[in-house]
Amino acid sequence: MISLAKVAANRVVRTFTGQLMQISIKRRVLGIVLAVTTIGTAATMQALDAALVLGAVCSTAALAADKEQVIKERQTFMKDQGRQWLVLRNYTQGKADQAAAASAVESLTKSVPKTPDYFPPDTGGPAPGDKWGTKPEVWSEHDKFLAADRKVADQVAVLAAAVKSGDRARAAAAFKDLDGCAACHQDFRAKLQ
Ligand code: HEC
Repeated sequence: MISLAKVAANRVVRTFTGQLMQISIKRRVLGIVLAVTTIGTAATMQALDAALVLGAVCSTAALAADKEQVIKERQTFMKDQGRQWLVLRNYTQGKADQAAAASAVESLTKSVPKTPDYFPPDTGGPAPGDKWGTKPEVWSEHDKFLAADRKVADQVAVLAAAVKSGDRARAAAAFKDLDGCAACHQDFRAKLQ
């Protein structure tokens, strides 16, 4: 009797290095071709089972770790946007100077269009212990998500021009209009438990 078992799994695992280099690693998680030419003895079948179980455990663990990493980098990215936002708020309140505001708004000008890159598919849910996470709508209503991000990019552009003008009152008005961060959080960020 000839028993042939072929199990192959291809996974595209996205990961990030340093400054958002999105790398696709194509991984052949299991590529086992077993040809058992003799009668399938109990021992052979056991070995096959063990190989399959081990492979499944390894690939699941690897994917979970990758996902956690993505969530961590996403939150770090957002926290940085939060810091820039605070500098801009301080500027409008007279607590930070124009140079600091210019640097903060430049940072947002660069980061906001990259936001969707931090939400690759299958990275929903919270990191362990988190109080906040993503809503599934990030992916199921992806066009809306992208539009929400573009809106923020537009608002940041208006704010950047205002900061550049040196007119603090104009910057304060533009900052007040920068409501797209909160709007996206309202629709796509979930408070957990
Ligand atoms: C297109 C949608 C979107 C836009 C635009 C957006 N965010 Fe977020 N933000 C999210 C989502 C979703 C999360 C939750 C991510 C998670 O927990 O995995 C989040 C999380 C955060 C967090 C919490 C990070 C943490 O875990 O501690 C901060 C702070 C933040 N965003 C700031 C900002 C600021 C400031 C802006 C505007 C300049 C902004 N965000 C624009 C979607 C968005």
